[in-house]
Amino acid sequence: MPAPALLALQQATRAHQRAHGCNAHTFEDGEGLWQLVAAHQPRRVLELGTGLGYTACLMALASPEAVVDTLEGDAIHAELARDQIAQLGLQQRVRLHEGSFSVTLPALQLQAGSLDLVFFDGNMPAFVLVQRFHSLLAPGGLLVCANLELNGPLGARRAKAELNDTTRWQRLPGLENGLTWVARKQGDAALQHELVRSGP
Ligand SMILES: C[S@@+](CC[C@H](N)C(=O)[O-])C[C@H]1O[C@@H](n2cnc3c(N)ncnc32)[C@H](O)[C@@H]1O
Ligand SMILES: [Zn+2]
Repeated sequence: MPAPALLALQQATRAHQRAHGCNAHTFEDGEGLWQLVAAHQPRRVLELGTGLGYTACLMALASPEAVVDTLEGDAIHAELARDQIAQLGLQQRVRLHEGSFSVTLPALQLQAGSLDLVFFDGNMPAFVLVQRFHSLLAPGGLLVCANLELNGPLGARRAKAELNDTTRWQRLPGLENGLTWVARKQGDAALQHELVRSGP
């Protein structure tokens, strides 16, 4: 369960979003994200869309061995997030990269298969970005993808088709009442065996 300090950070994000009139809408299913991350214990996490740091800090606290690289393009959000990350004492494990995703993601020079979890919480993800997440994730790694339909159902068609490709992904129960999709990269033979044995 998210700690009180995280709930305060979520409230601060809501207050900031109203005052700033911006797109820093905080993730509305922290409990679900916490449970998913606590169960999976990812070590290498990438987040796109830091806002004020609520979900980056939540994932770091739910998975105590995790290092979270989080990307944010708005300079005001980045500055506020740095403060929040420091207040929670997480600056060694939550690394904020300021700038557009199109600049900061390539600059990280991540190896294929090097990530355990990707959380996309920016505006609707481009189809090519979803494909890139597949390449960056290790087999069995998780993609948590919010805001798929932010620009309407048509824009999401190709990204959704990609995530429904069962040769590449296994869909898991979503978060935020299904608005946020969760998919596991196919390819972990041992895990697949366990899933078949334990049933749905
Ligand atoms: C929905 S908010 C993130 C909320 C945060 N994850 C939380 O739960 O509190 C999305 C954030 O992504 C940032 N963002 C959106 N598109 C971006 C882009 N192309 N490059 C960098 N940052 C971007 C926005 O500035 C905003 O702060
Ligand atoms: Zn803002």
